[in-house]
Amino acid sequence: MILTVGNTKGGVGKSTLAVNLAVARAAAGYDVLLVDGDEQATATIFSDTRAEELGSTGYTVASLRGKALRDQVQKFAPKYDDIIIDVGGRDTGSLRAALTVSDILLIPIRPRSPDLWALDDITPLIEEARLPNPNLRALVVINAADARGKDNKETAKVVQKREAVELLNLTIGNRKVFSDALSYGRAVTEYKPSDTQAIEELQRLIELLYIKENAKV
Ligand SMILES: Nc1ncnc2c1ncn2[C@@H]1O[C@H](COP(=O)(O)OP(=O)(O)OP(=O)(O)O)[C@@H](O)[C@H]1O
Ligand SMILES: [Mg+2]
Repeated sequence: MILTVGNTKGGVGKSTLAVNLAVARAAAGYDVLLVDGDEQATATIFSDTRAEELGSTGYTVASLRGKALRDQVQKFAPKYDDIIIDVGGRDTGSLRAALTVSDILLIPIRPRSPDLWALDDITPLIEEARLPNPNLRALVVINAADARGKDNKETAKVVQKREAVELLNLTIGNRKVFSDALSYGRAVTEYKPSDTQAIEELQRLIELLYIKENAKV
């Protein structure tokens, strides 16, 4: 399956979720290609750190942009179980190219108004990509959710009204372990001391993306 973690909004957790998914799927025995489609190169730096810390990443990483990203992903698709594409937080040729070849676009959003407003920017890109790629699913996940208060629910309600996207029945909490693990080239599943809630959330995300059909709320 080809999955892009994308949003035209920056800093929502795209790279964090992309690398956690890559590590976890590889650990589960799948052949994973992690594509870094962002000049910022977070996924590549994470993977380099990981290789230094652990000796190897456990997955293959490729830095690709724009048309080359689309062409290479199509070429590699039969060779890998999973391709996970991380793109930058704005409207780029790489994001548009990735959407034309992906099965799923995972859109992380924080439970905040600017993130909801940004759905207006990504919606036309999804619709455009669905012309050549009609089966593209666009799944929103609320990331860095609040431990309390009304914002998660309010955000969910607004997302559910949007026709172009589906809301995943999961919120990923605002947990320091996501940034701590990232700095050491590790997924939350590998980091010590363990944060069991973060691990459960990642596992649930994997279940909804890769195992369950009809994962929407
Ligand atoms: N669930 C979470 N809980 C706590 N911190 C998080 C969570 N998800 C991401 N972060 C942190 O938020 C920051 C931004 O995350 P990340 O770099 O993954 O976002 P991004 O969408 O890829 O950003 P960019 O648009 O710049 O590529 C990082 O410091 C990351 O550790
Ligand atoms: Mg990023």
